[in-house]
Amino acid sequence: MERSVSFASSISVALILCIVVYIIRRTLTGPPGPYPPGPQPIPLLGNLADIPSSYQWKTYSQWKRRWGDVVSISLCGQRIVILNSLEAAVDLLEKRGAIHSDRPVLQKTEELVGWSQTLALCPYDSHCRSMRRVLRRHMGGRGETEKMNTFHNKIEWEAHKFLVRMLRDPEGFVQHVRRTTGAIILQVAYGYEASEGRDLLIGLFERAVSGFNSAPTLGTLLAEVLPILKWIPSLLPGAEWKMKAKRLRADVEAMMDIPYRKAKVDASRRGEESSIASKCMEELVDEEDEHAVKFAVGSLYPGGVDTMTCAVSNFLLAMVLYPDVQKKAQRELDYVIGVDRMPRLSDLSRLPYMNALCLEVHRWNPATPLGIPHRSSEDNFFQGYYIPRGSLLLVNIWHILRDPDVYPEPLTFKPERFLLQDGKIPERDPRSAVFGFGRRSCPGVNLAEATLFVMCATILSVFDITKAVEDGKEVVPSGLHGPGTVSHPLPFQCQIRPRSSAAAALIRQTTA
Ligand code: HEM
Repeated sequence: MERSVSFASSISVALILCIVVYIIRRTLTGPPGPYPPGPQPIPLLGNLADIPSSYQWKTYSQWKRRWGDVVSISLCGQRIVILNSLEAAVDLLEKRGAIHSDRPVLQKTEELVGWSQTLALCPYDSHCRSMRRVLRRHMGGRGETEKMNTFHNKIEWEAHKFLVRMLRDPEGFVQHVRRTTGAIILQVAYGYEASEGRDLLIGLFERAVSGFNSAPTLGTLLAEVLPILKWIPSLLPGAEWKMKAKRLRADVEAMMDIPYRKAKVDASRRGEESSIASKCMEELVDEEDEHAVKFAVGSLYPGGVDTMTCAVSNFLLAMVLYPDVQKKAQRELDYVIGVDRMPRLSDLSRLPYMNALCLEVHRWNPATPLGIPHRSSEDNFFQGYYIPRGSLLLVNIWHILRDPDVYPEPLTFKPERFLLQDGKIPERDPRSAVFGFGRRSCPGVNLAEATLFVMCATILSVFDITKAVEDGKEVVPSGLHGPGTVSHPLPFQCQIRPRSSAAAALIRQTTA
């Protein structure tokens, strides 16, 4: 017995020695190859001073001119690799997806406030893969738009309710857009129809999402560095952040549990395949499976409501700033659909200009200019440069979609760039970048496209969107966007009025 203990301790000592020697050798010899180029770091802080606190995508775009498609910086020891071209993003995040699909940092914050198991933030492990499989099966991957066919009626119904809200209160358009995109997600995810005014589930999801945005407090950030803090009792003085984390966690648990349980009851009562949740319930094999389904479906609202609100707001902004584009789309709608009914998702293939307009919305101001960071799970080399395990990889989607070599006059909103006309080949489809890459690409892509199309087409068929007028003068929106992971247009004014009394009557009639 004694001999085996001393054998075990010799092995431990040998192992520790090996690790120490490895660390010393790595420190003395440096990385096994050059990191991708970038601004010169300073000791300890690295490139902290080079990174602006907002609109980082604009700075990264300038760095491309100096250092090329693949730039790297270090932030207090954390290596960050910025990809400024579609080719580099595809090579690293798609072709080498097996080692570049993890998600980064703030592990403890996310754990403490309960988000670490949701899809957008979870590591690339078996839970993540199960969630993505579930969503892929029922929502489809890029191009599998037919997966949404069973939900067309629900999406159209919510879009019609949106038009009624706009008719009643056009000034509150951003609020109506958010309410509608959220309601569409809940319809598709759970078969749940949100009520007008205060709605229990919308309230639940909104509370959890806004809680997430306020989650990183000093306490949770300290817990990133000192994981032991995770275990201190929340009643101790100075540990109020733990109480807050507990509250936020309860909101996240409620967001996952309550709608799922409700969908379960509804599915057993109605016995129909009316939502992604109910479709999944029919296929459950065990508890682990159910856990994945619950979190996969529960991740849709937080994953989609902000980006969709941003995209539809960008559409409205573009219509104010580009009246000729609006008129052209309305001419197409009037010609193909007429004025007696609303456009439907099944009309999509007959409305090429409207389609091109939606693509241009994605390109002109992508909802997430830098996507969501990926994290490498293995050391690897790319174009001769060393990308160590644990590096964060950011794709500059904003730059890729404004590259003047690919999109001439990139600042102009011009749907024609995506049309095959006068023998000119359409410019590159922005969906190749705007929904992210590889094994973490957006699982809501088909729902996003269906929602954007139906909201934009129905708005234009019955409303005119023009500049607001103040003191007899037109108010021109700045066209600027906010900072942050999702970059919304800065608040702007506009006038949204029915195109005719017949259009107003049509709006009321569709939800009667
Ligand atoms: C205009 C609309 C949208 C845009 C531009 C967009 C864009 C993105 C991007 C860039 C990512 C990160 C991909 C990556 O890491 O490579 C992402 C992830 C995600 N999106 Fe979307 N999205 C949109 C709509 C939606 C909708 C409607 C839903 C849900 C119904 C949704 C749910 C998600 C989820 C759950 C993730 C995390 C996926 C993962 O980490 O595995 N998104 N989206």
